[in-house]
Amino acid sequence: MISGKRILLTVTGSVSAYKALELARLLRKAGARVIPVLTEGGARFVTPHALQAIAGEAVHEDLWSLAEEATIGHIKLARLPDLVVVAPASADFLAKMALGLADDLATTMLLATQAPILVAPAMNWAMWAHPATVANMATLRSRGVQVIGPGEGAMAEAESGPGRLAEPAEIFAAIEALLSPSPKPLAGKHAVVTSGPTHEPIDPVRYIANRSSGKQGHAIAAALAALGARVTLVSGPVHQPDPKGVSMVRVESAREMLAAVEAALPADIAVFAAAVADWRTAAAATQKMKKVPGQAPAPLELALNPDILSTISHHATQRPGLVVGFAAETENVIENATTKRARKGCDWIVANDVSGDVMGGAENAVHLVSASGVEDWPRLPKDEVAARLAQRIAEAVGG
Ligand code: CTP
Repeated sequence: MISGKRILLTVTGSVSAYKALELARLLRKAGARVIPVLTEGGARFVTPHALQAIAGEAVHEDLWSLAEEATIGHIKLARLPDLVVVAPASADFLAKMALGLADDLATTMLLATQAPILVAPAMNWAMWAHPATVANMATLRSRGVQVIGPGEGAMAEAESGPGRLAEPAEIFAAIEALLSPSPKPLAGKHAVVTSGPTHEPIDPVRYIANRSSGKQGHAIAAALAALGARVTLVSGPVHQPDPKGVSMVRVESAREMLAAVEAALPADIAVFAAAVADWRTAAAATQKMKKVPGQAPAPLELALNPDILSTISHHATQRPGLVVGFAAETENVIENATTKRARKGCDWIVANDVSGDVMGGAENAVHLVSASGVEDWPRLPKDEVAARLAQRIAEAVGG
């Protein structure tokens, strides 16, 4: 998988930079072309001569080098690799990446490249645990940056903890996995996914909403797309980035969401992860409602919204082959989810307890309720719940 691949290896300032030489050696031995990039900090720990000798190719260091710009140019260089690897990635370098800075050749390259990116962080345990680094890693992960390590163990400062650069063999294995074509069991299948809250207007400036962030639904859309499905993601108002390779349909209200889902049919798979408002105002005011001093507020009259999951599960002509609903419960989770599955007519229910910080949070502990029983899944990050669900869907409907 690695033979013939072009790997841009960026070495940044960490005492573990010497291990990058071993990584470069392993990659070359496997037949890869290693294009070395060294930051100013990196050059304090390994010499350009050593890196160049092992990579077998000129080291790129200077954004402002006239000679280099004349021969290749930094944008051309950024377009060259199949994969960009940053090993070691220092705390400072990761922060620059998260901010999108481009103040040297290595960071400019990362902004300009379209290639997938793998980072291997290396730093002191306290720097790794710092909220700034934690937030930077979350930002990078949400942009699709892959991460290997760090490991735990003895550090240069005679301390111990998480922050050690992953071993060159581990980084090599991660590179191999990233460059291997991933299986596409859902190729040729169409999936419709709903995500986020709905907003039900009260008047032109106010609405009824809920705490859904869209994290779980968007992650499911991304996971299904990663397995080769053509995905239509019908989303309420959220602050999530659009998942890669997914067709977005943006809606506000439950009725708009139902119309968008119906328009997206036929589909082989439907996953209803949205937290649809059960009620809307019976008639939204066309002008901003004014308070009248001394008068009691006007009561809000509510009307029931259509149930999208139930409507599609009972669709006479275009019911998708597999319909998956969610159940947000705060008590009797399994029992309520089981009755909900029967009532709504879907095949599976992903039941989650939303009594804690699940809504808007990063993790989810779910139970998969189907005709064959209940599976309890461990508490997992929402993108891992999504990956597992997509895998199960692929086993059920994949070719
Ligand atoms: N759902 C839907 N349309 C609605 C309400 C809910 O499609 N109008 C879907 C959700 O996307 C989810 C499932 O139904 O997949 C269950 O949502 P939940 O809020 O748990 O159930 P409700 O039907 O609202 O039941 P209750 O509030 O009584 O628990």
